Amino acid sequence: MSDLAQALQTLPWSWYSDPEVAALERERIFRRAWQYVGHLGELQGPGSYFATHAAGVPIVVTLDRDGTLRGFLNVCRHRGTVVARGAEKRGTLQCPYHAWTYDLDGELRAAPRSSRDPSFEATGLCLRPVALGTWGPFVFSNPDPDCEPLEDALGDIAEVVAAGGLDVGQLRFHGRFPYGLRANWKIAIENYLECYHCAVNHPSLVEVIDERSLLLESNRLRVSQYAPAHRRVAEGTAPFDARGPLDSARYHLLLPATKLNSLPGHPNLSIGPVWPTATDRCEGFLDYFFGPGADDAWIADLLAIDDVVGGEDTALIEAAQAGTANGILEHGRLLAGSDDLVAYFQRYVRSRLAE
Ligand code: FES
Ligand SMILES: [Fe+2]
Repeated sequence: MSDLAQALQTLPWSWYSDPEVAALERERIFRRAWQYVGHLGELQGPGSYFATHAAGVPIVVTLDRDGTLRGFLNVCRHRGTVVARGAEKRGTLQCPYHAWTYDLDGELRAAPRSSRDPSFEATGLCLRPVALGTWGPFVFSNPDPDCEPLEDALGDIAEVVAAGGLDVGQLRFHGRFPYGLRANWKIAIENYLECYHCAVNHPSLVEVIDERSLLLESNRLRVSQYAPAHRRVAEGTAPFDARGPLDSARYHLLLPATKLNSLPGHPNLSIGPVWPTATDRCEGFLDYFFGPGADDAWIADLLAIDDVVGGEDTALIEAAQAGTANGILEHGRLLAGSDDLVAYFQRYVRSRLAE
């Protein structure tokens, strides 16, 4: 096979249903990757925390009284219970099982009846740190404490988002929208990384954005698509009034699986992870943020169009799962130009799994 033909061959479709591949992905991709886990608005000031997870790994984000932000595996060192739930302003973390109590810096402060165990030492039983970092209001975590710094993983994404006219410092959190898909997580990401399907499947979206002028870009862990607002927007005949300071739709992926989207119009951004829950299931959520000029009616319109497009994508993703996961064919063939970011993603997956 020529190099070009090889480059245009999809991943083996067995990789979308093979539990061994899923286990490797968990170890070599998700347990070593920076992922969006929430936002600073979930904290209630110094002496508070919120519980979250990175692809199913329980994580607690704490803000100590002195203002230090930290992340820990949210797993009790006694018998492994998830320690913190929800979000609270409370100076300590107390495990609900046997009430071991940890300070917000992770130190084990008290373990009831531990004085009866002469060999017990609280030192060495602190919550295990994870890597944690922020960009604007967004909180990211990597379960691997020895990973590259967040700044390196984010690369130029902050500059690219700012260059698109969006000041993330001005964004206010609006709401979180969870979803589940009956598909392997890679199919969900691959669908996100091309708009080749848009003309056929997203009739309302393609009257808001000009997908024929789509630009594709990749830089290390950032994979991006840009589409200018459709001429119908300026004419006032688009199904969504996308007039405003943002003149294009921008879709970014922070590899492996954190999406960042903004539509043209007033300042808006949705961000969130996708993670596997089984070989043929994945889940995700999107946190929506809006900036100045986005009033309630406009936000409702944006959420409505996103909801329509999301429903259309769900059907496409689940149909691709049904076709690929049955093992009847070995692989597919990508289309140069239209599927370039899918190919980029698949190279990323291949290289991580080969490590
Ligand atoms: S498992 Fe946490 S205190 Fe026992
Ligand atoms: Fe789509």
